Amino acid sequence: MTQQHRARAARPAGPDSGGPDSAVLRAEAAHLDAADPLAHVRERFVLGAADAAAGAHGGAAGVYLDGNSLGALPRSVPERLADVVRREWGELRIRSWRESGWWTAPERIGDRIAPLVGAGPGQVVVGDSTSVNVFKALVAAVRMAGDDRDELLVDATTFPTDGYIARSAARLTGRTLRPVAPGEVHDALGPRTAAVLLNHVDYRSGRLHDLPGLTAAVHRAGGYAVWDLCHSAGALPVGLDAHGVDLAVGCTYKFLNGGPGAPAFLYVRKDLQERYDSPLPGWNSHEAPFGMRGEYTPADGVVRARVGTPDILSMLALEAALDVWDGVRIADVRAKSLALTDFFLKCVAAYVPPGRVEVVTPLPHGERGSQVALRCPDAGAVMERLIARGVVGDFRAPDVLRFGFTPLYLGFAETEAAAAVLAGELGGQTA
Ligand SMILES: Cc1ncc(COP(=O)(O)O)c(C=O)c1O
Repeated sequence: MTQQHRARAARPAGPDSGGPDSAVLRAEAAHLDAADPLAHVRERFVLGAADAAAGAHGGAAGVYLDGNSLGALPRSVPERLADVVRREWGELRIRSWRESGWWTAPERIGDRIAPLVGAGPGQVVVGDSTSVNVFKALVAAVRMAGDDRDELLVDATTFPTDGYIARSAARLTGRTLRPVAPGEVHDALGPRTAAVLLNHVDYRSGRLHDLPGLTAAVHRAGGYAVWDLCHSAGALPVGLDAHGVDLAVGCTYKFLNGGPGAPAFLYVRKDLQERYDSPLPGWNSHEAPFGMRGEYTPADGVVRARVGTPDILSMLALEAALDVWDGVRIADVRAKSLALTDFFLKCVAAYVPPGRVEVVTPLPHGERGSQVALRCPDAGAVMERLIARGVVGDFRAPDVLRFGFTPLYLGFAETEAAAAVLAGELGGQTA
């Protein structure tokens, strides 16, 4: 039985409030799936087993709406990882640092991520966690800004790790941390601004912030713009080079599907690299790492943003995962992402009783990332029931249901099915 068929068997019967009925929405989903230029990419992923098992207990077949937290497994990864372990590690052992290209993996994989975030080659390096890269980027930005600038601005609504690390970076560099809502950044900028840390897409609401406009404003004030791309890399065009972003970080386990704990990436704009003064100048960033010198001299280029020995297994899993992007245009991903979130919102409006949820995600396309966040007081309990029925999203305290839409492997029929199951759990009409 196909996923669509299983999903159909478990849906609520129809609309609740005079919107389009479920037959109309199902027909629209079929039409959208048939016209989807990315439909074939789904085959590149392993999907279904565990979610479908949950679905067998009275829910929709697996609908995975949590790729904004942990992307699904690309089919190319298990075999490649087995080869890395058995042959490259098991047989070649230490020779693999050179012969299997382990040593240069951070820059090589960085160059594969670069086009997905609008960066030319030689500016992205992979390694460490997002949190660690936030620290590296912020301290480097403050050092570039010089001693006259004593304020570090951070998105007041940020994912907590960025806020914690910004506070520590401010303490260590003797700057004052100023948390500011993204909408108020323009007014907060001034001659004291050293650096500004912002999220491209808000992790809770799914709001897309104005990266070009805010970067330009930070530059007009003479500061440095550092962007957290965790929720935009692989989901929408970022345009790092085009918009003159200074430094950026992002994780690779969400829309880049690199696997649990996959290493993060750090972008340092080409013309700033010479001034990148790392707060963590490990031996991997040295111009002569095997020279074993007591004195530190940074390598040229983005290599100087490395720290210590790269986590090769995770890193090479990520490299294999990036194969799913072969022939995929990020513009098509964005178009489908917006179509999926539009369609989900339309189904929610048709099936869920009015007033039961509040849509938190902005409706204008220019302000929306690749997720839909819905607020309701019992969100935690609702999400538990949804997951039990095979519709996997996540809950963000205190009251947000979060649904991530990964255009590479998600279709419109299952989006409609997920909305129908959600409506059932929220007291909408059921079969
Ligand atoms: C915006 C943002 N920044 C940072 C992180 C996490 O950082 P790390 O990879 O260090 O756990 C997340 C994780 O979900 C995130 O959403």
